[in-house]
Amino acid sequence: MRHERVLILDFGGQYNQLIARRVREQNVYCDLLPYDMSIEKIREYAPVGIIFTGGPNSVYEAGAPAVDARIFDLGIPVLGICYGCQLIAHTLGGKVTHASTREYGKCEIRYAEDSALFAGVAPKNICWMSHTDYVSEVPAGFSVTARTATCPAAGFEDAKRKIYGIQFHTEVHHTREGEIILHNFLYNVCKAKGDWTMSNFVAEQVERLKEKLVGKKVLCAMSGGVDSAVAATLVHRAAGENLTCVFVDHGLLRKGEAEEVVSVFRDGLGMNLVKADARDRFLAKLKGVGDPERKRKIIGEEFIKVFEAESKKIGAVDFLVQGTIYPDVIESGKGASAVIKSHHNVGGLPSVVDFKEIVEPLRDLFKDEVRKVGTELGLPDSVVQRQPFPGPGLAIRIMGEVTEEKLKTLRDADFILRDEIAKAGLSRDIWQYFAVITSTSTVGVMGDARTYEPVIALRAVTSVDAMTADWARIPYDVLEKISSRIINEVDHANRIVYDITSKPPATIEWE
Ligand code: XMP
Repeated sequence: MRHERVLILDFGGQYNQLIARRVREQNVYCDLLPYDMSIEKIREYAPVGIIFTGGPNSVYEAGAPAVDARIFDLGIPVLGICYGCQLIAHTLGGKVTHASTREYGKCEIRYAEDSALFAGVAPKNICWMSHTDYVSEVPAGFSVTARTATCPAAGFEDAKRKIYGIQFHTEVHHTREGEIILHNFLYNVCKAKGDWTMSNFVAEQVERLKEKLVGKKVLCAMSGGVDSAVAATLVHRAAGENLTCVFVDHGLLRKGEAEEVVSVFRDGLGMNLVKADARDRFLAKLKGVGDPERKRKIIGEEFIKVFEAESKKIGAVDFLVQGTIYPDVIESGKGASAVIKSHHNVGGLPSVVDFKEIVEPLRDLFKDEVRKVGTELGLPDSVVQRQPFPGPGLAIRIMGEVTEEKLKTLRDADFILRDEIAKAGLSRDIWQYFAVITSTSTVGVMGDARTYEPVIALRAVTSVDAMTADWARIPYDVLEKISSRIINEVDHANRIVYDITSKPPATIEWE
């Protein structure tokens, strides 16, 4: 079945993936594709609506991204956001003016009550702006539908031709009632039916995979991460016992995680799961190694070797499952597609496995959709809501040499941190939170005895994409509880510090 779909033309703005996620959240499938898609291709794509995103350029710049004006004659509704709205005005004969200062942040706005785009939205409202240029004159045939103190045409439309422009960003939560505005565009203007749901997706994918995989041998590398877990579970629904999952236990996962993989997937779902216990092997390779990049390299190479040995035992397979997701496939602006994930855990696998084809059942999904599919498939929250975790695992959270003893201390401390964050109801608000064993030992006193142990650091950050991050403002009483529990319950812990650096200049991980 082909879903109705919206085409989002990507002009390179920072919120573009967010626009696509917001459309999908309204149960309408969409693709984010490069702005220079030809008119023939657009016709062929046959969207129910087109959205132009924001972008960093000014319409007057030489070589600024433009659209073929024939796009407005296709009879398909168009919504232009930020740069997209300036482009509509510029292309159709309106005027775009360069302001002397950039407008950034929340802003009061007045919406026209008779615009289909703003139906059900309070006329006096708040929106989120991020622009320098603005539309000073709308093209002939257009009327102004929203104003702010600095934007005389913060919204404008030609309702007859179904062309709409908005200077502000509906997709960010700061635009109050932005969801209703997007809903109005999708359902009132584009007349979407809303056939994109994760339960539909699961049912269709399972059918599709069943056809493709019938009687075939399928292999999947399970890392414990969300993407590979959901991809494997989806494929398992279709391929059943023809699917073999290989889980390499490198001994660098957090407390209880390796056991959980076995209990959820082998015991719970009845998957054919091979667990390769390579803990000693990894530890031996890491002996005496302190340099973080060397550790990463060793772990990456060793992982491939262990997987290769396991896959040799299984023999040639027809399909190799990869947990590639949509953000791995799209690239902002002039989107060239990157097909195979560069994550070291899976990136090198195709070269060592004897397979015919790669199957990527999640390649159309955003991370939040992958999580919903996981829940739909009955996976527990501990798997589906798992925070991002680096491939080299705890090895890069122990400064210097990795030892069995330090791993145990780190696991225990990290477990307490996670437990208290969960109890405080903060798990969903914090992007990543973990403990680190530093390479500095300090003196402590316990009972009457002097102690001398490595400092344990706690790191917790908020972020949307790990590119930038801020340290999480965890309430003092929660930090106090974490600190006192670690000191009391964990061996070799005598001092806890909290990392209060953002990224940049620091990175999220310590190594
Ligand atoms: P940094 O520390 O660079 O981390 O701010 C950004 C994000 O990437 C994760 N990370 C890694 N993931 N292999 C991975 O698979 C690695 O070597 C690695 N190093 C960092 C980190 O946890 C954060 O989410």
